[in-house]
Amino acid sequence: MKLTENPNSVRNISVVGLGKLGAPLAACLAHRGYQITGVDLDDTKVQAINEGIPTVFEPGLKELLQSTRERLSATKDLEGAIHNSQVTFILVPTPSEVQGGFSLRHVVPVCERIGDALRKKSDRHLVVLTSTVLPGSTANEVMPILEKRSGKRCGREFGLCYSPEFVALGNVIRDLLSPDFILIGESDPRSGDLLASVYKGLCENDPPVARMNFVNAELTKLSVNTFVTTKITFANMLARICERLPGANVDVVTSALGLDSRIGAKYLKGAIGYGGPCFPRDNLALAALARGVNATATLAEATDSVNRQEVRRLAKLVQSKLPVNGVVGILGLSYKPNTDVVEESQGLLLAQILLAEGISVAVYDPAGMKNARKVLDGSVVFAESTEACAQVADVIVIATAWEQFKRLPPAILTRNNARRVLVDCWRVLDARTYGPIVEYFPLGVGTNVEIG
Ligand SMILES: NC(=O)c1ccc[n+]([C@@H]2O[C@H](COP(=O)([O-])OP(=O)(O)OC[C@H]3O[C@@H](n4cnc5c(N)ncnc54)[C@H](O)[C@@H]3O)[C@@H](O)[C@H]2O)c1
Repeated sequence: MKLTENPNSVRNISVVGLGKLGAPLAACLAHRGYQITGVDLDDTKVQAINEGIPTVFEPGLKELLQSTRERLSATKDLEGAIHNSQVTFILVPTPSEVQGGFSLRHVVPVCERIGDALRKKSDRHLVVLTSTVLPGSTANEVMPILEKRSGKRCGREFGLCYSPEFVALGNVIRDLLSPDFILIGESDPRSGDLLASVYKGLCENDPPVARMNFVNAELTKLSVNTFVTTKITFANMLARICERLPGANVDVVTSALGLDSRIGAKYLKGAIGYGGPCFPRDNLALAALARGVNATATLAEATDSVNRQEVRRLAKLVQSKLPVNGVVGILGLSYKPNTDVVEESQGLLLAQILLAEGISVAVYDPAGMKNARKVLDGSVVFAESTEACAQVADVIVIATAWEQFKRLPPAILTRNNARRVLVDCWRVLDARTYGPIVEYFPLGVGTNVEIG
């Protein structure tokens, strides 16, 4: 697809950090006609992008990289990339800090080098920070570094925006091309206009653009994720109530609840806790921010605390159903379907809790096995398939709603005549098929769960 109606002159964009977010963003921008230079420290990522090979697991990325090879190249040369582009997106990691904030230890050296390059560049350049940062970071830390190293004034001689993306891993390409909205924190209107026009060229839909100063944009980013974690936790609370209420079913309740336009249906499936690389840490960061300014952090703290209890409660249920010397089979280690990311996933946390109790665990995930091995290697059985995992287990837990798990062959479950227990956290299976052949526990359904 060609860039047809970009109302500004931006053609050349650089993207620094070719990871889970940067590689798809670079590919999507190239797909929409921009000329992209990707920059990464990691030789293997640079080489992979230049060969059209994905650097990360993300559905659709391979096809985009292959179809955009003439418009997308990668390099380690950050200065060269700045000179050859008009706009630079920064998507390097911002690891969480113990007290709940985000470290800028990867952002700072990138900004120093960008500042050095801007000193030698006569054309105006726009720097876009897309990595997640704590409110205050863009104005108080990023901007001064760029100004000092470039010797130029932000907003006059170069532009700076803070513009996070709202994407879910597994859906990153669709989310980048058709976002609900665009968020721009801007140093000055000219910079905001320019970035809005870049997004106009990127998006296949026509999303509203929310433009504001840096601190409001930084706060909005954390607020979106914290609102969603609160919503998930609310749905999980309903699920726990339904389990103790004869005749209740959380899906029935939440599908009606979601019809209220004040509430909405998304992220309202009562199941188990949230995980992944963004939700838990953004929620904690908002709490840390609130504490840091002497505001109340109770709601965000409660969400985190309730969420952490979910997996402990699940472990208790599993243990209560496990025969002596029994094996637990965990289906699903990625924190959601269609990703290989296992960070803070409920399946992985469940495995760790059970292992600490001396329980034997077998695991299977369609994409997350490699990453799970880095954490669990040597302590669990890594099954080759859904069926192999189910077959060795006395209690099977479906912890992630992968499509594959919906096709769990009933015949496997009756093999050896053992009556297995099946805990279906996401209610992906049909109770009428599986109920008669296993002890079936769909979470969120009345009177099915007997735990303290
Ligand atoms: N992954 C998501 O879904 C998501 C969503 C919203 C926001 N974010 C934010 O985006 C940022 C990036 O996240 P990610 O998941 O893509 O990280 P990632 O770890 O997958 O990728 C980061 C990339 O940056 C590269 N890098 C590190 N230092 C560099 C440097 N000095 N120069 C060039 N490259 C460098 C790394 O080699 C890596 O390829 C984080 O702040 C994250 O919080 C991520």
